[in-house]
Amino acid sequence: MKETAPSATSTAAVVVRRLAVTDRPGVQRMLGRCSPRTLQQRFAAAAPAPHWFADSVVSHSAVIGIGAWCGDDLVGVGSVHLREDAPEFAILIEDTWQRRRVGARLIRAMSDQAVATGWHHAVVEFLVTNTAARALLLSSCTHVWFSPPDAGLVSGLVLLRSRATPPIDDGSTERLPGRPACRRPGPEDGRNG
Ligand SMILES: CC(C)(COP(=O)(O)OP(=O)(O)OC[C@H]1O[C@@H](n2cnc3c(N)ncnc32)[C@H](O)[C@@H]1OP(=O)(O)O)[C@@H](O)C(=O)NCCC(=O)NCCS
Repeated sequence: MKETAPSATSTAAVVVRRLAVTDRPGVQRMLGRCSPRTLQQRFAAAAPAPHWFADSVVSHSAVIGIGAWCGDDLVGVGSVHLREDAPEFAILIEDTWQRRRVGARLIRAMSDQAVATGWHHAVVEFLVTNTAARALLLSSCTHVWFSPPDAGLVSGLVLLRSRATPPIDDGSTERLPGRPACRRPGPEDGRNG
């Protein structure tokens, strides 16, 4: 059954930080709030079981999981998969939080983490129909190249640049533009698409 979105009033700012094992329930709840379309775009296939996805981002030794939090609600998850050839980025923003620059902040934090582990480039794969993912990469990364589509998928190669001191929590004081306090967006805020 789909998770009900928590109420729209929270006073905490959106905070980006590394996920921990204790965040497993929050990850599962967030996955339950995502639409089938958003899940399809993230996984390019059937979505995994929530507990499997949660484990993969909070406790897998080869994955750095980063979360964007609005109070107690997780609203976005970025994962850096540490592979031998290059780290692979994947990202998921809950529907009502899309187009609010949460993805851009996660990409920044993921880049910092990849650089901190010694990488200067990363790869990302997404459905050829996923114009949002392409636009996010083009707007957030200085240098990005895309492969021609292959079996419905596009691969992106991103050149990473990091801030001088890579923080894992970039958002303890930063607030989303135009949002004085963290508030779950309602239909009146709709900018999706
Ligand atoms: C793709 C995705 C991660 C983007 O995250 P987001 O938080 O919505 O993106 P942001 O608000 O940070 O967008 C930053 C910029 O990217 C571009 N962008 C993002 N989404 C866009 C869209 N749907 N259409 C056009 N441009 C878009 C814009 O330039 C935007 O800046 P602007 O809002 O000031 O114009 C999000 O839509 C998502 O989770 N989709 C489902 C999962 C997925 O596709 N993951 C990627 C494959 S792993």
